[in-house]
Amino acid sequence: MSSPEKSEIIYQIYPKSFQDTNGDGLGDLQGIIDRLDYIKSLGVTMIWLNPIFESPHVDNGYDVSDYYTIDSKYGDELIVDRLIEAAHANGLKVMFDLVLNHTSTKHWWFQEALEGPNNRYRDYYIWKKSARKDHPPNNWASFFGGSVWELIDEDSMYYFHLFDKEMPDLNWRNPNVREEMIRIALYWLDKGVDGFRLDAFIHLEKEHGYPDVPYADPGQCSIAEEYYANLPKVDDYIKEFVLKIKKHYPNVYILGEAASADPDRGVQYTLPRGEACNSIVSFRYFPMKDRLNDEQFLIDGKPEMLDVKQFKQVMAEWQSKLGEISEPTLYLNNHDMPRAVSRLGDAKKFREDSAKTLATVMYLQKGVPVILNGEEIGMKNLEVKSWENSRLKNGQETVNWLIEKGVSEKVLKEYLSSISINASRGAMQWTDGEFAGFSTEEPWSGVNRESHYNVAAQASNTTSILSHYRILLNLKKRALFSIGNYEMYVVKSPILAYGRQYKSEKAIIIANLSDETQTSEIKRLKSLKYEILLQTGTVRVCGDTLIELAPFASIVLIIKEKKEKR
Ligand code: GLC
Ligand code: CA
Repeated sequence: MSSPEKSEIIYQIYPKSFQDTNGDGLGDLQGIIDRLDYIKSLGVTMIWLNPIFESPHVDNGYDVSDYYTIDSKYGDELIVDRLIEAAHANGLKVMFDLVLNHTSTKHWWFQEALEGPNNRYRDYYIWKKSARKDHPPNNWASFFGGSVWELIDEDSMYYFHLFDKEMPDLNWRNPNVREEMIRIALYWLDKGVDGFRLDAFIHLEKEHGYPDVPYADPGQCSIAEEYYANLPKVDDYIKEFVLKIKKHYPNVYILGEAASADPDRGVQYTLPRGEACNSIVSFRYFPMKDRLNDEQFLIDGKPEMLDVKQFKQVMAEWQSKLGEISEPTLYLNNHDMPRAVSRLGDAKKFREDSAKTLATVMYLQKGVPVILNGEEIGMKNLEVKSWENSRLKNGQETVNWLIEKGVSEKVLKEYLSSISINASRGAMQWTDGEFAGFSTEEPWSGVNRESHYNVAAQASNTTSILSHYRILLNLKKRALFSIGNYEMYVVKSPILAYGRQYKSEKAIIIANLSDETQTSEIKRLKSLKYEILLQTGTVRVCGDTLIELAPFASIVLIIKEKKEKR
């Protein structure tokens, strides 16, 4: 079991959007060095950088062309050494993003492999001849659209790619590939890196024989997760990888990206301790209600809403299944999702309170917080103007439908922002200046310019979202909120309430996760004496157990000794 000192608090930095120092509109490593004081002041223990290796940036660095070289857009070997050193000097660990599942087509292994079946790198990738001319070997779909198979200039020969066609999958059945990845990991560990986030590792194994999925429409491809996600062999690969690097670096921290893992699979990915991931990130934390067919959508433009009832069950399950044996991750944002305050909260009417309450609810649970840069100042989705970089395949149709229905331009713009793959990758808002203090030039991604939602405006304001995050992360250092027991209470949704207990210390967290005032009976409060530790928005206690919470209000109570019975 982890001790409070050992529990990590991770700050995710999207390097391309964090801080530019040479005026090219792209964030860089010097920018991260310059901001270490700020990062440290948040109370985090580790920074995770999205990929910074050499890459043609077909997928913002997840298409690596050389794992041993820093992308020149971001810096060079000297500067990465300086970053690691400076982070350590500030008491911060450094986690790199390691893409195990695929490389860029520009990687020299793939270039060699293209030479033909006799090349020694051929077997680093996955090849298959199709039995049917002009048809791929099977009907599996890539996550980025179309088939997973790409034809090359040989007779009906295809290579496999789960993501973009310029990101061919590595063949993990080949022990040389596994050794290469271990060598890469050790190279960076030798340089002082403290951990890795394992990108898309759940896809390392694909079903032998590559059978068609039965449910695809004739002539069409279909996502085939059962054949390329979470297969049992993945555990063996990870165990080998982890054991071989832990032999040299026993304390390396492994955060696995396990998008489609449910809590049971999550348990398997973190066991046995020391031979698997320390923790994993599942994308299944936030069950959403689709509001596209809801008339309300046309008025306020909010495309989705958190299904709080289900969310409570999901959280309780992750907490109970992983809480005892390893550590669940606690997160609201990452670079692949829209910003939480726009998606789960209400970025228009209750931005301040929804940002704070979501954080309170999430981070006071048991586990490792993973905070995306900008979340701590309530950054919302990047405003995009045009129809590009959408994450939805039928996005254009939806937009046409909305225009036909007569939605306002404002609502349409918000919708486009919510489905843009860059929704959460906007430039970090440091100031209210022209380019938000991120750069002296137009940022690559565009930028939201906002007077209150920037670091400068919030840093010295004790009631800001930023101050709230600092308080929360400080609370996280208490055993009560790190290793204390967790219990989800049965209360009427959209109110959520849970308890934490460590020895004789006890806390209750109560929150309204909706945009309307809610009243609920919290039976647990009966006969308790408590003190308010943290409050967001208006909360009224009416009588012994009845509580009324304004939209997105929340309260953290510390339970004192029992009330005397009269
Ligand atoms: C992960 C990353 C995502 C990337 C994909 C392919 O899901 O988070 O951004 O596109 O892997 O590497
Ligand atoms: Ca730059």
